Amino acid sequence: MSKKRILISGLLLCMLLPIAQADEGMWLPYLLQLNESDMQQKGMKISAKDIYDVNHGSLKDAVVLFGGGCTGEIVSDQGLLLTNHHCGYGYIQSHSSLQHDYLTNGFWARNKNEELPNNGLSVTLLVEMKDVTAEVLNGIRNNMTENERKTIVTQNIKTIQQKATEGTHYKAVVKPIYNGNQYLLFINEVFTDIRLVGAPPSNIGKFGGDTDNWMWPRHTGDFSVFRIYCGKDGKPAPYNKDNVPYKPKKHLTISLKDTKTNDFTFVFGYPGMTQQFLTSFAVELIQNQTNPIAIDLRTQRLDIIKKYMEKDKLTRIQYSAKAAGIANGWKKWIGQNNGLQRLDVIKHKQELEQRFNQWVAENSDRQQQYGGMVEAYKAFYDQLRPIAKEVSYFMEAFYSIESIKFAWQMHGILQADSLNSQQKQQYTLRINNFFKDYNSNLDKEIFDALATAYFANAQDIPNATLDKVHKIGLTKLSNEIYSKSILLNKDKMLEIVAKDDKKALNKLKKDILFTFTIPIVEHYNTNIAPKYSNLSKQTDSLDRLWTKAMMEMQPEKTFYPDANLTLRVAYGNIKGYQPKDGMIYKHYTTIEGIMQKENPDIYDYVVEPKLKDLYKHKDYGRYANKYGELPVCFIATNHTTGGNSGSPVLNAKGELIGLNFDRCWEGTMSDIQYDVDLCRNIILDIRYCLFIIDKYANAKYLVDEMTIVQ
Ligand code: ARG
Ligand code: ASP
Repeated sequence: MSKKRILISGLLLCMLLPIAQADEGMWLPYLLQLNESDMQQKGMKISAKDIYDVNHGSLKDAVVLFGGGCTGEIVSDQGLLLTNHHCGYGYIQSHSSLQHDYLTNGFWARNKNEELPNNGLSVTLLVEMKDVTAEVLNGIRNNMTENERKTIVTQNIKTIQQKATEGTHYKAVVKPIYNGNQYLLFINEVFTDIRLVGAPPSNIGKFGGDTDNWMWPRHTGDFSVFRIYCGKDGKPAPYNKDNVPYKPKKHLTISLKDTKTNDFTFVFGYPGMTQQFLTSFAVELIQNQTNPIAIDLRTQRLDIIKKYMEKDKLTRIQYSAKAAGIANGWKKWIGQNNGLQRLDVIKHKQELEQRFNQWVAENSDRQQQYGGMVEAYKAFYDQLRPIAKEVSYFMEAFYSIESIKFAWQMHGILQADSLNSQQKQQYTLRINNFFKDYNSNLDKEIFDALATAYFANAQDIPNATLDKVHKIGLTKLSNEIYSKSILLNKDKMLEIVAKDDKKALNKLKKDILFTFTIPIVEHYNTNIAPKYSNLSKQTDSLDRLWTKAMMEMQPEKTFYPDANLTLRVAYGNIKGYQPKDGMIYKHYTTIEGIMQKENPDIYDYVVEPKLKDLYKHKDYGRYANKYGELPVCFIATNHTTGGNSGSPVLNAKGELIGLNFDRCWEGTMSDIQYDVDLCRNIILDIRYCLFIIDKYANAKYLVDEMTIVQ
């Protein structure tokens, strides 16, 4: 934050406390009154009550938690739902086959009968949220141990959740905020009949792929369309073909009007996790140990995978989703580390900790409550660091080898004397699933790289394994595993399972892949993982106290509770940024950029002929801006994180102008430290979304269902 901004917000603070700090923050909808004047000052034309109201339909009634980690919004009075393509990806894939490759070609239900049900998908609507801190902490005394405290808190939460939903079909959940200093109750309505309505082809919905992921300028049409169904009584019901489209209390109005720099905008959705209260020690661990280890190991993995994907089409299909998953975290952590370094976060946190020590020393009450906390944190992280390193190398090296993971997933087969039909079915499925997307040469190369890294860096490895590796040598071991292991022979494994071949099963016990894998994983599960999780739990009480102290020490600052996958509002303005010296990024992109990126030889940049045709004829319909351009994406200063994908991005009047789907690379440290100069969320312009539905997919009947202002 610049000096000037600090001064200005400092001045304002004195005048109208409490006031939110601009741009940073993910605010609780039920307390949005506290932000209202700030939001209106920044351009908002509606009231906090229009956004969240328990007694009347409000915008919150149109925002949903989509599955377990994305957001969606209702855009018609028939339960039509928008979310990201990458949020619907797994479901689109599950309906895809070689004959109907919806992932590649897109899918559009021509009428409600063609909409496809999705096993396991739910959509959660918030009915109400409220503070239940007093009830949760009822019976807690200061001199209790952490365990005693936990027992009471858990019991109280159970009672509160039960009472809150008695006699209703609602589901309740209590979640801590401010690291356990406060508790909120969320009463939800969970719908489970959710059907796929439409999805663009991947080269629109995933345009730019992993190359463009986390980056601006962006041209991804990252959306998919679903519909909520319910029983005839309007209540949630499991899938039934006679269920009816859900009629929401409120659906969003869509605006096709032009937007411009500095326009007010807010994001309403379910951010997953932020960690603003971390100490310098925690940031140091992430920045200097956890991230570098993971980045290095994933770089090695991705280089190998890419090499094979380029050589062979089948491998590309088999590994594209895997590579996307590996690359998403990898790229985010690289960006996060750059950002943490650029903002010198560790140093600033150290200064804050010094100030804290002075503040504590000023007064004996504080000394009694908070004395020695910084030292306690230091001691804690000294203990955690080496164990965290073991965890990192196990997870990112050893257990990231596909054959190893598979061996562990199959090891139950060794315990069975004979296989019953259910087990047969289960193992057959597992074997088929594994080999469907498996390339053994590729995996061997990864084994050679990652096992080497694991044995060179992990300290806590069973002695017998170490002896074996020393005696045989990793290279020979790897050669034997990949040439001799029966486990890696699909046909033989299928046969053994199908025939319940006892002799072969017995022989499997000595299979080299099993004998190598099992002791290491078992050792990790019984020694390292519990040590790590027990130790991690030890900071619960420290973190709770630290958060309380930080808030007490900085009374001039308005804090937001860290994201925890509960409904929040983040607000700011549409704005470009300066990523590097001498560079300025504009705040929006157009279809022009899609054509500039087009490359028929690179999978991520193939442009569909139909889209090119629409481009050639400038056939943008009512979706063009006033310059005649077709807008594709834009960026804003809204503070968002993972989970916000698919969130509605709304204008000053509360109308839908886009779908949140990503952040700019330079700002991915915002989970730990937000910076208004660098942090931008990336938004799909609703006009490109509707253009694709209407003009590209000829599914205008869906657009006709929506409420649109122009
Ligand atoms: N970076 C975005 C998020 O964290 C989008 C990820 C999906 N896209 C991809 N190319 N992997 O979820
Ligand atoms: N792409 C993320 C998501 O899927 C959003 C983000 O991390 O900004 O939720």
